[in-house]
Amino acid sequence: MIKKAIIMAGGSGTRLRPSTLALNKHLIPIYDKPLIFYPLSLLMLIGIRDILIIVNDHDKFLFEKLLGNGKKFGIKIRYKTQNKPTGIPESFIIGEEFIDNKNVILILGDNIFYGQGLVEIIQKSKNSFKNGAKIFTYPVKNPNEFGVAELKNNKIKKLVEKPKVTKSNLAITGFYFFDKKVSSIAKNLKPSKRNETEIIEILKYYQKKNRLDFTKLGRGSTWLDTGTVRNNLLCSNFIQIMEDRQNYKIGCLEEISYRKNWISKKELSQIIKNMGNNEYSIYLKSLIN
Ligand code: TTP
Repeated sequence: MIKKAIIMAGGSGTRLRPSTLALNKHLIPIYDKPLIFYPLSLLMLIGIRDILIIVNDHDKFLFEKLLGNGKKFGIKIRYKTQNKPTGIPESFIIGEEFIDNKNVILILGDNIFYGQGLVEIIQKSKNSFKNGAKIFTYPVKNPNEFGVAELKNNKIKKLVEKPKVTKSNLAITGFYFFDKKVSSIAKNLKPSKRNETEIIEILKYYQKKNRLDFTKLGRGSTWLDTGTVRNNLLCSNFIQIMEDRQNYKIGCLEEISYRKNWISKKELSQIIKNMGNNEYSIYLKSLIN
């Protein structure tokens, strides 16, 4: 069982400059809502209500302005800051107190997941998770751009970062489960050649001890990485197409909390009132009527 999650939303967003020179990547819209809504919505959908968001110091107030302490979504959000983007594993050191010797989920703030049955799959494995670590893989055309899991007899045989040659097409997505040991493992990591500590090194640690589990996300689900200008636009287009076609919103935090009964009709009405007149609030109104 896991009840806590960390969203890593710092970093420098170099590949999205100049847009990210003044604006944090996770606050830039993907179609009709800020990027951070998507990873946060996945956590809410699988029933996580205790969340730590790690952000850059100078951006913290913007996240607080957008999401507050989470109360308006019926969840609890805390914030911690990362002074320099020295690696994703730092989340477990910065978040050690938050983790409090419990199991924890980590999701990268620029990862979007979507697909039929996806929430059920992840929720089930969250509820049955005891210890060790778990990754979620996704088949990709260009495995050499990702951390990749190589399998043998349906077990993870090897983990490789951006392999030049590999027979595996299974990219490691930015969504992970870890047990309470993760903070102490993170503390012992050395920076890589690019002067960052690497999440794959933590995964290797668990794999060597035979404690790394995996679930393959199939072709019916979508995993999008918004880190480049091109991908950013593609993601926006994807969300627009899905939302226009089905008239359901993807990653709508207010909708999720209302449907889960985490906020009342009265609270949602207040949110709608504060939102003013726009397509997003018209959508929220339709949920009440
Ligand atoms: P990356 O895409 O690896 O890095 P970045 O966001 O800084 O972008 P760029 O490569 O264009 O400079 O980061 C993946 C996610 O992890 C992203 O959501 C930011 C987050 N992150 C941190 O919060 N702190 C870190 O130290 C690093 C390396 C990443």
